[in-house]
Amino acid sequence: TSPGTGHPAGTNMVDEITGHRRMRRNRKADWTRRLVQENRLTVDDLIWPIFLISGENRRESIDAMPGVERLTVDMAVEEAKRAADLGIPALATFPNISMDRRDETGSHSLASDNLINEATRAIKKAVPHIGIITDVALDPFTSHGHDGILKDGQILNDDTVSQIAQAAVIQADAGSDIIAPSDMMDGRIGAIRRALDEAGHQNVGIMSYATKFASAYYGPYREAIGTGGLLKGDKRTYYIDPANSDEAVREAALDVEEGADMLMVKPGQPYLDIIARLKDTFAMPTFAYQVSGEYSMIRAAAANGWIDGEKVMLESLLAFKRAGCDGILTYFAPEVATLLARR
Ligand code: PBG
Repeated sequence: TSPGTGHPAGTNMVDEITGHRRMRRNRKADWTRRLVQENRLTVDDLIWPIFLISGENRRESIDAMPGVERLTVDMAVEEAKRAADLGIPALATFPNISMDRRDETGSHSLASDNLINEATRAIKKAVPHIGIITDVALDPFTSHGHDGILKDGQILNDDTVSQIAQAAVIQADAGSDIIAPSDMMDGRIGAIRRALDEAGHQNVGIMSYATKFASAYYGPYREAIGTGGLLKGDKRTYYIDPANSDEAVREAALDVEEGADMLMVKPGQPYLDIIARLKDTFAMPTFAYQVSGEYSMIRAAAANGWIDGEKVMLESLLAFKRAGCDGILTYFAPEVATLLARR
Protein backbone atom coordinates (compact mmCIF):
# COMPACT_ATOMS: atom_id res chain seq x y z
CA THR A 1 0.00 0.00 0.00
CA SER A 2 0.99 3.60 -0.39
CA PRO A 3 2.44 5.16 2.77
CA GLY A 4 -0.30 5.89 5.25
CA THR A 5 -3.15 5.73 2.76
CA GLY A 6 -4.49 2.19 3.13
CA HIS A 7 -4.93 2.13 -0.63
CA PRO A 8 -3.12 -0.35 -2.86
CA ALA A 9 -0.04 1.35 -4.38
CA GLY A 10 -0.80 3.41 -7.43
CA THR A 11 -4.51 3.54 -6.92
CA ASN A 12 -4.96 6.73 -5.01
CA MET A 13 -5.17 10.25 -6.28
CA VAL A 14 -2.19 11.65 -4.36
CA ASP A 15 0.14 8.96 -5.71
CA GLU A 16 -1.06 9.86 -9.18
CA ILE A 17 -0.26 13.49 -8.53
CA THR A 18 3.09 13.01 -6.78
CA GLY A 19 4.28 10.07 -8.85
CA HIS A 20 5.09 8.35 -5.53
CA ARG A 21 7.48 11.18 -4.52
CA ARG A 22 6.61 11.96 -0.94
CA MET A 23 8.69 14.53 0.96
CA ARG A 24 7.18 13.44 4.26
CA ARG A 25 9.05 10.08 4.26
CA ASN A 26 12.21 11.81 5.47
CA ARG A 27 10.26 13.71 8.12
CA LYS A 28 8.46 10.73 9.61
CA ALA A 29 10.54 10.27 12.77
CA ASP A 30 13.01 12.08 14.92
CA TRP A 31 15.82 9.83 13.67
CA THR A 32 15.08 10.46 9.99
CA ARG A 33 14.84 14.17 10.64
CA ARG A 34 18.19 14.14 12.42
CA LEU A 35 19.78 12.19 9.55
CA VAL A 36 18.67 14.60 6.85
CA GLN A 37 19.24 17.83 8.82
CA GLU A 38 21.40 20.10 6.67
CA ASN A 39 22.47 22.82 9.08
CA ARG A 40 23.25 22.81 12.76
CA LEU A 41 23.92 25.46 15.33
CA THR A 42 26.82 24.72 17.65
CA VAL A 43 28.63 26.65 20.34
CA ASP A 44 31.50 27.09 17.85
CA ASP A 45 29.28 29.49 15.88
CA LEU A 46 28.91 32.02 18.68
CA ILE A 47 30.53 35.39 19.29
CA TRP A 48 29.28 37.16 22.40
CA PRO A 49 29.10 40.98 22.33
CA ILE A 50 29.52 42.46 25.82
CA PHE A 51 29.21 46.02 27.14
CA LEU A 52 31.81 47.62 29.39
CA ILE A 53 31.66 50.39 31.99
CA SER A 54 34.43 51.81 34.14
CA GLY A 55 34.65 51.11 37.86
CA GLU A 56 34.76 47.93 39.84
CA ASN A 57 32.48 45.12 40.83
CA ARG A 58 29.44 46.59 39.14
CA ARG A 59 26.81 45.41 36.67
CA GLU A 60 24.21 47.74 35.22
CA SER A 61 21.06 46.58 33.55
CA ILE A 62 20.02 48.10 30.22
CA ASP A 63 16.31 48.96 30.02
CA ALA A 64 15.93 48.25 26.31
CA MET A 65 17.89 44.97 26.48
CA PRO A 66 16.46 42.77 29.26
CA GLY A 67 19.03 40.18 30.32
CA VAL A 68 22.02 42.16 29.04
CA GLU A 69 24.23 44.16 31.40
CA ARG A 70 27.07 46.64 31.26
CA LEU A 71 30.03 45.18 33.12
CA THR A 72 33.04 46.63 34.86
CA VAL A 73 36.29 45.06 33.66
CA ASP A 74 36.57 42.69 36.64
CA MET A 75 33.02 41.45 35.99
CA ALA A 76 33.81 41.12 32.28
CA VAL A 77 36.71 38.86 33.22
CA GLU A 78 34.31 36.68 35.24
CA GLU A 79 31.94 36.50 32.26
CA ALA A 80 34.84 35.71 29.94
CA LYS A 81 35.70 32.74 32.16
CA ARG A 82 32.09 31.59 32.04
CA ALA A 83 32.03 31.99 28.25
CA ALA A 84 35.26 30.01 27.86
CA ASP A 85 33.87 27.25 30.10
CA LEU A 86 30.78 27.12 27.89
CA GLY A 87 33.02 26.81 24.82
CA ILE A 88 32.16 30.19 23.28
CA PRO A 89 35.09 30.96 20.94
CA ALA A 90 35.18 34.76 21.16
CA LEU A 91 33.91 37.96 22.75
CA ALA A 92 33.30 41.31 21.07
CA THR A 93 33.66 44.26 23.46
CA PHE A 94 31.79 47.57 23.35
CA PRO A 95 32.53 50.35 25.86
CA ASN A 96 30.22 52.87 27.46
CA ILE A 97 32.70 55.72 27.86
CA SER A 98 32.06 58.34 30.54
CA MET A 99 30.73 61.58 29.04
CA ASP A 100 33.70 63.68 30.16
CA ARG A 101 35.98 61.52 28.00
CA ARG A 102 33.96 62.08 24.83
CA ASP A 103 34.90 64.87 22.42
CA GLU A 104 34.43 66.08 18.83
CA THR A 105 37.12 63.80 17.39
CA GLY A 106 36.84 60.81 19.70
CA SER A 107 40.43 61.34 20.81
CA HIS A 108 40.12 58.94 23.75
CA SER A 109 39.92 56.09 21.23
CA LEU A 110 43.71 56.50 20.98
CA ALA A 111 44.40 56.09 24.70
CA SER A 112 46.20 52.84 25.34
CA ASP A 113 44.50 52.61 28.76
CA ASN A 114 40.93 53.28 27.60
CA LEU A 115 38.14 50.93 28.63
CA ILE A 116 38.37 48.69 25.55
CA ASN A 117 42.12 48.21 25.88
CA GLU A 118 41.97 47.78 29.64
CA ALA A 119 39.37 45.03 29.20
CA THR A 120 41.37 43.32 26.46
CA ARG A 121 44.45 43.18 28.68
CA ALA A 122 42.55 41.91 31.71
CA ILE A 123 40.60 39.26 29.80
CA LYS A 124 43.64 38.06 27.83
CA LYS A 125 45.59 37.71 31.06
CA ALA A 126 42.90 35.74 32.89
CA VAL A 127 41.41 33.78 29.96
CA PRO A 128 44.12 33.58 27.27
CA HIS A 129 42.27 31.11 25.08
CA ILE A 130 39.17 33.15 24.39
CA GLY A 131 39.27 35.33 21.26
CA ILE A 132 38.89 39.09 21.66
CA ILE A 133 37.31 41.08 18.85
CA THR A 134 37.44 44.86 19.17
CA ASP A 135 35.68 47.61 17.24
CA VAL A 136 37.55 50.75 16.18
CA ALA A 137 34.55 52.89 15.26
CA LEU A 138 34.65 56.24 17.05
CA ASP A 139 31.00 56.40 18.17
CA PRO A 140 31.60 55.41 21.82
CA PHE A 141 34.16 58.23 22.05
CA THR A 142 32.57 61.13 20.17
CA SER A 143 30.40 63.78 21.80
CA HIS A 144 28.03 63.61 18.80
CA GLY A 145 27.67 59.80 18.60
CA HIS A 146 28.89 59.51 15.02
CA ASP A 147 31.41 56.86 13.96
CA GLY A 148 33.77 59.41 12.48
CA ILE A 149 35.20 62.87 12.92
CA LEU A 150 32.51 65.49 12.39
CA LYS A 151 33.40 68.86 10.89
CA ASP A 152 30.96 71.47 9.58
CA GLY A 153 28.22 68.88 9.51
CA GLN A 154 30.31 66.37 7.48
CA ILE A 155 31.86 63.08 8.58
CA LEU A 156 35.46 63.34 7.38
CA ASN A 157 36.40 60.07 5.70
CA ASP A 158 40.17 60.19 5.36
CA ASP A 159 40.91 61.82 8.72
CA THR A 160 38.71 59.21 10.38
CA VAL A 161 40.52 56.39 8.57
CA SER A 162 43.94 57.51 9.76
CA GLN A 163 42.68 57.78 13.35
CA ILE A 164 41.01 54.37 13.40
CA ALA A 165 44.09 52.76 11.83
CA GLN A 166 46.09 54.13 14.78
CA ALA A 167 43.43 52.96 17.22
CA ALA A 168 43.61 49.48 15.63
CA VAL A 169 47.35 49.26 16.31
CA ILE A 170 46.79 50.36 19.93
CA GLN A 171 44.06 47.73 20.33
CA ALA A 172 46.35 45.08 18.84
CA ASP A 173 49.14 46.18 21.20
CA ALA A 174 46.71 45.56 24.08
CA GLY A 175 46.14 42.00 22.83
CA SER A 176 43.12 42.19 20.55
CA ASP A 177 43.02 39.20 18.19
CA ILE A 178 40.69 40.61 15.57
CA ILE A 179 39.99 44.23 14.67
CA ALA A 180 36.40 44.73 13.61
CA PRO A 181 35.81 48.18 12.14
CA SER A 182 32.12 49.09 12.11
CA ASP A 183 32.45 52.67 10.87
CA MET A 184 31.96 52.13 7.09
CA MET A 185 34.54 54.74 6.03
CA ASP A 186 36.00 54.14 2.57
CA GLY A 187 39.45 52.57 2.48
CA ARG A 188 39.54 51.62 6.15
CA ILE A 189 40.28 47.93 5.71
CA GLY A 190 43.38 48.56 3.59
CA ALA A 191 44.59 51.29 5.93
CA ILE A 192 44.11 49.15 9.04
CA ARG A 193 45.86 46.18 7.39
CA ARG A 194 48.83 48.34 6.44
CA ALA A 195 49.07 49.91 9.89
CA LEU A 196 48.85 46.54 11.66
CA ASP A 197 51.53 45.02 9.41
CA GLU A 198 53.87 47.98 9.86
CA ALA A 199 53.52 47.59 13.62
CA GLY A 200 54.37 43.90 13.45
CA HIS A 201 50.80 42.68 13.97
CA GLN A 202 50.68 40.38 10.92
CA ASN A 203 48.68 37.81 12.88
CA VAL A 204 45.94 40.16 14.00
CA GLY A 205 42.93 39.63 11.75
CA ILE A 206 40.29 41.94 10.38
CA MET A 207 36.61 41.13 10.54
CA SER A 208 35.05 43.77 8.37
CA TYR A 209 31.59 45.05 9.13
CA ALA A 210 31.48 44.84 5.35
CA THR A 211 27.84 45.56 4.87
CA LYS A 212 26.46 47.65 7.65
CA PHE A 213 23.07 49.10 6.86
CA ALA A 214 21.57 52.38 8.05
CA SER A 215 19.15 50.47 10.23
CA ALA A 216 16.58 51.30 12.88
CA TYR A 217 17.40 48.02 14.64
CA TYR A 218 20.36 49.58 16.49
CA GLY A 219 18.21 51.53 18.96
CA PRO A 220 18.78 49.49 22.12
CA TYR A 221 22.55 49.38 21.51
CA ARG A 222 22.64 53.16 21.53
CA GLU A 223 21.10 53.12 25.00
CA ALA A 224 23.67 50.50 26.04
CA ILE A 225 26.71 52.61 25.10
CA GLY A 226 25.03 55.95 25.77
CA THR A 227 25.01 57.40 22.24
CA GLY A 228 21.25 57.47 21.72
CA GLY A 229 20.66 60.92 23.15
CA LEU A 230 23.82 62.35 21.56
CA LEU A 231 23.38 61.43 17.92
CA LYS A 232 22.74 64.40 15.70
CA GLY A 233 21.08 63.45 12.43
CA ASP A 234 21.58 59.92 11.17
CA LYS A 235 24.30 57.73 9.66
CA ARG A 236 23.02 57.55 6.09
CA THR A 237 26.08 59.26 4.58
CA TYR A 238 28.23 56.28 5.58
CA TYR A 239 26.06 53.20 6.27
CA ILE A 240 24.37 51.38 3.34
CA ASP A 241 20.77 52.12 2.33
CA PRO A 242 18.60 49.15 3.47
CA ALA A 243 17.12 49.13 -0.05
CA ASN A 244 20.40 48.14 -1.71
CA SER A 245 21.84 44.71 -2.41
CA ASP A 246 24.22 45.16 -5.39
CA GLU A 247 25.84 48.05 -3.53
CA ALA A 248 26.43 45.72 -0.57
CA VAL A 249 28.20 43.23 -2.84
CA ARG A 250 30.45 45.95 -4.29
CA GLU A 251 31.21 47.25 -0.79
CA ALA A 252 32.18 43.74 0.38
CA ALA A 253 34.33 43.22 -2.76
CA LEU A 254 36.43 46.24 -1.82
CA ASP A 255 36.92 44.93 1.72
CA VAL A 256 38.02 41.54 0.39
CA GLU A 257 40.50 43.23 -1.99
CA GLU A 258 41.81 45.45 0.80
CA GLY A 259 42.58 42.45 2.99
CA ALA A 260 39.60 41.57 5.18
CA ASP A 261 39.90 38.07 6.69
CA MET A 262 36.22 37.79 7.52
CA LEU A 263 33.05 39.54 6.42
CA MET A 264 30.08 40.52 8.52
CA VAL A 265 26.53 41.50 7.67
CA LYS A 266 24.68 43.78 10.08
CA PRO A 267 21.83 43.69 11.06
CA GLY A 268 21.24 39.96 10.64
CA GLN A 269 17.76 38.57 10.20
CA PRO A 270 16.33 41.30 7.94
CA TYR A 271 19.40 40.86 5.69
CA LEU A 272 19.62 37.07 5.20
CA ASP A 273 19.56 37.63 1.44
CA ILE A 274 22.74 39.70 1.70
CA ILE A 275 24.44 36.97 3.75
CA ALA A 276 23.58 34.36 1.11
CA ARG A 277 24.82 36.59 -1.73
CA LEU A 278 28.12 37.40 -0.01
CA LYS A 279 28.79 33.77 0.87
CA ASP A 280 28.08 32.66 -2.70
CA THR A 281 30.09 35.48 -4.25
CA PHE A 282 33.22 35.54 -2.09
CA ALA A 283 33.38 32.16 -0.29
CA MET A 284 34.77 34.08 2.70
CA PRO A 285 34.21 33.34 6.37
CA THR A 286 30.92 35.18 6.78
CA PHE A 287 29.26 36.38 9.97
CA ALA A 288 26.00 37.97 10.96
CA TYR A 289 25.43 40.44 13.77
CA GLN A 290 22.07 39.71 15.36
CA VAL A 291 21.79 43.26 16.60
CA SER A 292 20.23 44.75 19.70
CA GLY A 293 16.82 45.43 18.12
CA GLU A 294 16.54 41.84 16.92
CA TYR A 295 17.46 40.61 20.39
CA SER A 296 15.06 42.91 22.22
CA MET A 297 12.14 42.12 19.90
CA ILE A 298 12.46 38.42 20.69
CA ARG A 299 12.83 39.13 24.42
CA ALA A 300 9.85 41.48 24.49
CA ALA A 301 7.50 39.17 22.61
CA ALA A 302 8.59 36.27 24.81
CA ALA A 303 8.07 38.31 27.99
CA ASN A 304 4.50 38.99 26.86
CA GLY A 305 3.89 35.31 26.22
CA TRP A 306 3.35 35.98 22.51
CA ILE A 307 6.11 33.65 21.30
CA ASP A 308 8.17 30.84 22.78
CA GLY A 309 11.37 32.85 23.33
CA GLU A 310 13.71 29.88 23.53
CA LYS A 311 12.44 28.32 20.31
CA VAL A 312 12.45 31.60 18.39
CA MET A 313 15.97 32.33 19.63
CA LEU A 314 17.23 28.96 18.33
CA GLU A 315 15.33 29.27 15.05
CA SER A 316 16.63 32.79 14.45
CA LEU A 317 20.21 31.58 14.91
CA LEU A 318 19.79 28.43 12.81
CA ALA A 319 18.45 30.60 9.99
CA PHE A 320 21.82 32.37 9.88
CA LYS A 321 23.56 29.03 9.37
CA ARG A 322 21.15 28.12 6.58
CA ALA A 323 21.79 31.48 4.89
CA GLY A 324 25.52 30.67 4.82
CA CYS A 325 26.96 32.12 8.01
CA ASP A 326 30.02 30.63 9.64
CA GLY A 327 29.19 32.36 12.89
CA ILE A 328 26.91 34.85 14.61
CA LEU A 329 27.44 37.74 16.98
CA THR A 330 24.54 37.41 19.39
CA TYR A 331 23.59 38.70 22.83
CA PHE A 332 21.97 35.29 23.34
CA ALA A 333 25.40 33.57 23.21
CA PRO A 334 25.69 32.39 26.84
CA GLU A 335 22.05 31.34 26.99
CA VAL A 336 22.28 29.39 23.73
CA ALA A 337 25.58 27.82 24.71
CA THR A 338 24.02 26.67 27.99
CA LEU A 339 21.05 25.19 26.15
CA LEU A 340 23.21 23.43 23.56
CA ALA A 341 25.39 21.94 26.30
CA ARG A 342 22.30 20.39 27.93
CA ARG A 343 21.16 18.63 24.74
C1 PBG B 1 28.42 51.81 15.70
C2 PBG B 1 27.82 50.53 16.16
C3 PBG B 1 26.47 50.19 16.05
C4 PBG B 1 26.30 48.93 16.65
C5 PBG B 1 27.56 48.51 17.08
N1 PBG B 1 28.49 49.53 16.79
C6 PBG B 1 25.37 50.88 15.35
C7 PBG B 1 25.09 52.28 15.68
O1 PBG B 1 25.05 52.70 16.84
O2 PBG B 1 24.87 53.00 14.72
C8 PBG B 1 24.99 48.22 16.78
C9 PBG B 1 24.97 46.96 17.56
C10 PBG B 1 23.61 46.52 17.97
O3 PBG B 1 22.60 47.17 17.66
O4 PBG B 1 23.53 45.48 18.63
N2 PBG B 1 29.71 51.73 15.26
